[in-house]
Amino acid sequence: MINVLILNSSPTPKSSISTKFTSFFEQKLLAVKGFNIVTRDLGVAPPSHLDELVLSGFFNDPSEHNEDQKKALSEGLILIRELEQADIVIIGAAMHNHTVTSGLKAYIDQVTRPGLTFQYKEDGPHGLLTNKQAFIIISAGGDYSSEETQKTDFVTPFLREVLGFIGLDEITFIPVFGTYLGSEVSEKNQSIARQTIMEQVMKLNQKR
Ligand SMILES: Cc1cc2nc3c(=O)[nH]c(=O)nc-3n(C[C@H](O)[C@H](O)[C@H](O)COP(=O)(O)O)c2cc1C
Repeated sequence: MINVLILNSSPTPKSSISTKFTSFFEQKLLAVKGFNIVTRDLGVAPPSHLDELVLSGFFNDPSEHNEDQKKALSEGLILIRELEQADIVIIGAAMHNHTVTSGLKAYIDQVTRPGLTFQYKEDGPHGLLTNKQAFIIISAGGDYSSEETQKTDFVTPFLREVLGFIGLDEITFIPVFGTYLGSEVSEKNQSIARQTIMEQVMKLNQKR
């Protein structure tokens, strides 16, 4: 079985385009079989923000933690263990204010943890979550596909950088832009995204 982790991040899942597409991806994977899928909803149940207590134990060895630190850090540990087990990570990234939603940002802060998901060596940082493939479905009201508008899409470069930092460097971005630009534009972009997902599922199926 190939383990798949789906991370949704829209706070409005019922009307969410990114969630619609992560579900589409899930349905296609289930149809070809052999994929074990776990879904986490970061928009509806966002992880905690890092606070003083969590950060007091963030940079030292877990064996040194007191009971309060252990309790505070346990949420992040659960998220990290879940991510470690995934062979494939599919993220539904709704754009809010030019970047990821606060739920996805809180998740990234929880799982970007020294000693567990990255490590500094003499030659610089090394991501520890290697040998995973990531698919990121970005839904945005506007269109960020031109050279000019790309400059104000901070979802793509942020996720590429921070996921690469923890080792997830094999990333396929699947944009679903223009959800506010009328049904014709939106439908056209959605149709391209559907096609891309079907092609990716075929490739994943062949790789097994
Ligand atoms: C609070 C908020 C902020 C948004 N900010 C942007 C933005 O900066 N740029 C943009 O193109 N669309 C923006 N939108 C539109 C969303 O990107 C669009 O509704 C997209 O479909 C959201 O993904 P979802 O459908 O999966 O929730 C914003 C929407 C909300 C609710």
